[in-house]
Amino acid sequence: MKALSKLAIRNLSKTFEADDGELVKVLDSISFEIAEGEFVSILGPSGCGKTTLLRIIAGLLRFSKGEILIDGTKVSLGHNRIGFIFQQESLFPWRTVRGNIEFGLELQGITPEKRSKLSDSMLELIGMTEYQDNLPHEISGGQARKTEMARSLITSPDILVADEPLSNLDAQTRNFLQEELLRIRERTNSTVLFVSHNVDETVFLSDRIIIMSNIPAKIIAEYTIDIPKPRDRTSAECLTYRSKILEVLREEREKMLEERPTQKHPASI
Ligand SMILES: Nc1ncnc2c1ncn2[C@@H]1O[C@H](COP(=O)(O)OP(=O)(O)OP(=O)(O)O)[C@@H](O)[C@H]1O
Ligand SMILES: [Mg+2]
Repeated sequence: MKALSKLAIRNLSKTFEADDGELVKVLDSISFEIAEGEFVSILGPSGCGKTTLLRIIAGLLRFSKGEILIDGTKVSLGHNRIGFIFQQESLFPWRTVRGNIEFGLELQGITPEKRSKLSDSMLELIGMTEYQDNLPHEISGGQARKTEMARSLITSPDILVADEPLSNLDAQTRNFLQEELLRIRERTNSTVLFVSHNVDETVFLSDRIIIMSNIPAKIIAEYTIDIPKPRDRTSAECLTYRSKILEVLREEREKMLEERPTQKHPASI
């Protein structure tokens, strides 16, 4: 018997209604599945609907049509089965590093003793024990992103969705945190859906990469990255995937530029 997929998205569409009543279709019949323990990344032009898709999957935003299934069971708005790392930094400024990491455990009603034990080992895992009493403004950008990762992973979510969690970091910190993310995930064993604008990053991290078109977003290509981990970013195999994917994204960008003059408000572009 075929194993059930961990997460299945079927014919998912989303239309926003703007303030003036105009309808804007953002997602157009998106379908894909993710297997248990798989690391899948989504790439696509800015504004194509990646964050919208993640928010819908996490149960934070209503969708217009389609289905979302986790372990074969349909879920709807407000479900609580997924950990989320947001695109914008989202640590609570009034809570310490430890206080932020323990937040999800508090929501789950875990006892203070157990919380503190779990966060001790998470702080050690991310190398932040020394900074546990610092407030978010007292740590670096990279340390903040690590704390966010830890906050999302400490509850051992079955599925983690991460929206550009490593953007706005220098290349060295970013590479380091990519390795950290893989290491922490190995311990928590979560299934991951990851959004990024950085092709190299997705080739380094992912088992599979899904590429979305311009708005209204459809899936236009998919690549299984058949390279054992840990990967060498500079290897010929990684570079081959990289150039194939960059080519698809370039074609999509050209298509968008060609379509522009026929849009409704060309003067505003
Ligand atoms: N609440 C909303 N109401 C109306 N339109 C919205 C709303 N939220 C997002 N949009 C529109 O939906 C589209 C997709 O936005 P989204 O944030 O999902 O894009 P994205 O792919 O994550 O972009 P980026 O790569 O820049 O983060 C955009 O055109 C945006 O203006
Ligand atoms: Mg986004």
